[in-house]
Amino acid sequence: MPRSAEVRARTGGQDVRKITYSEEDIAARVKAMGDEITGAYPQGDEVLVLGLLKGSFIFLADLVRHIARPVQVDFLVASSYGSGTVSSGEVKLVYDPDAEISGRHVLLVEDIVDSGNTMNRLIPMLEKRGPKSLEIVALLHKHIAPNLVKEPRWVGFDAPQEFLIGYGLDHSEKYRNLPFIASL
Ligand code: IMP
Ligand code: MG
Repeated sequence: MPRSAEVRARTGGQDVRKITYSEEDIAARVKAMGDEITGAYPQGDEVLVLGLLKGSFIFLADLVRHIARPVQVDFLVASSYGSGTVSSGEVKLVYDPDAEISGRHVLLVEDIVDSGNTMNRLIPMLEKRGPKSLEIVALLHKHIAPNLVKEPRWVGFDAPQEFLIGYGLDHSEKYRNLPFIASL
């Protein structure tokens, strides 16, 4: 896909600076993570996959198709960024899942761990609801969060400290539909 005319058709005229992870790299990594996740849950056990909207929607859609366990899907909406590229530190829960968490295997799906604020706010809240297990899978991890309350058990890529877009990641709600991940 990265022919620049096609890229510009999706961005509204802009080129991207650098493709950080290609469509093929992402597909291979997501499949490998799905296989690892499958192996971590006993056969027959059900997993509640909780996607953190909006950034995780494409990753989650691809990932669940590689998890060979009974899966239920629900979503959380936390808002921390507004339209800037720097975290405000505020995390608001805008939508809370209907799904029962108590006694279930919960797998939280995050697009990218940056400051860690979102995870640090969500994990204690979910732990309080008494899941049987609680794990995090993050597509990208910038490894700059100073004190994460819980590290993701699975990470797709150790990301550069750049602002990344595509494959669900936005800047001011744009670029989510790029099939690869690029630096803005
Ligand atoms: P946190 O700083 O770890 O709380 O990250 C919160 C959210 O900010 C992530 O789930 C993303 O939606 C967004 N975010 C952080 N870094 C980036 C980036 O490089 N590109 C796009 N979104 C980002
Ligand atoms: Mg975002």
